[in-house]
Amino acid sequence: MNVRRQRLRRYLMCRPSHFDVTYAINPWMDPSKPVDPELAVAQWERLCSLYRELGHQVELIDPVPGLPDMVYAANGATVVDGKVLGARFRNAERYAEGPAYLEWFRAHGFTELHAPEHINEGEGDFLVTGSWVLAGRGFRSSPEGHAEAQEFFGRPVISLELTDPRYYHLDTALAVLDTDEVMYHPQAFSPGSRAVLERLFPDAVLAAPQDAAAFGLNAVSDGLHVILPEAATGLADQLRERGFIPKGLDLSELLKGGGSVKCCTLELRASA
Ligand code: ARG
Repeated sequence: MNVRRQRLRRYLMCRPSHFDVTYAINPWMDPSKPVDPELAVAQWERLCSLYRELGHQVELIDPVPGLPDMVYAANGATVVDGKVLGARFRNAERYAEGPAYLEWFRAHGFTELHAPEHINEGEGDFLVTGSWVLAGRGFRSSPEGHAEAQEFFGRPVISLELTDPRYYHLDTALAVLDTDEVMYHPQAFSPGSRAVLERLFPDAVLAAPQDAAAFGLNAVSDGLHVILPEAATGLADQLRERGFIPKGLDLSELLKGGGSVKCCTLELRASA
């Protein structure tokens, strides 16, 4: 079995004080279904304290009234080598989150900031491995946004086509487990993108449809622990076999907005 090593991280999160489902921009959202605001906060706090118990540093950005999806901090930016690529959202409902997140970075000592020209939804669609930045397109981030990220970060961006509307962001269909190790749901990708993933990651963990549907791929790994929705039990078993320690959480309220563990977590990679 592989020997796994934890690497301590720094995350940015946003308390779901104003979380609600008032519009539908992905198939998980149904504004007629009530959200329990207290339960949403309690579930989010459990995630936040788990990170801290595991030794990670968690920074907080103030939630803005009128931006119910701001809890999905992963979408707020992409940070690599301390360089911050801001987000530009496809949907008008979320547009104001981009500048709000950029402002947080400006106020917290990050000096290399780029306000994007093209649509990209942050770490919802950009996932960083040791060698590449994997980038999702098809529903939200644009191919031009991928090119803009490659130019800004100076890292190879691998553009992948998502085809199933339930997996509208890359972080709902794929998660980075370690340097160049990933897990993903093959059926969420176009045949060509699937072939690219097979070529880059021949040993990847492949998620079964029911684990993907439980949002199991919306996971955060620190190299040893993998935090994921608790309903993704098959995936948890697969991870255990690989030497990881899966930690299941219930984020049912946040799932009503179409997000879970990873969506609530933006990784701040070095500097500032
Ligand atoms: N309601 C949000 C949207 O559709 C959910 C975002 C989830 N975030 C993520 N990183 N996948 O945009």
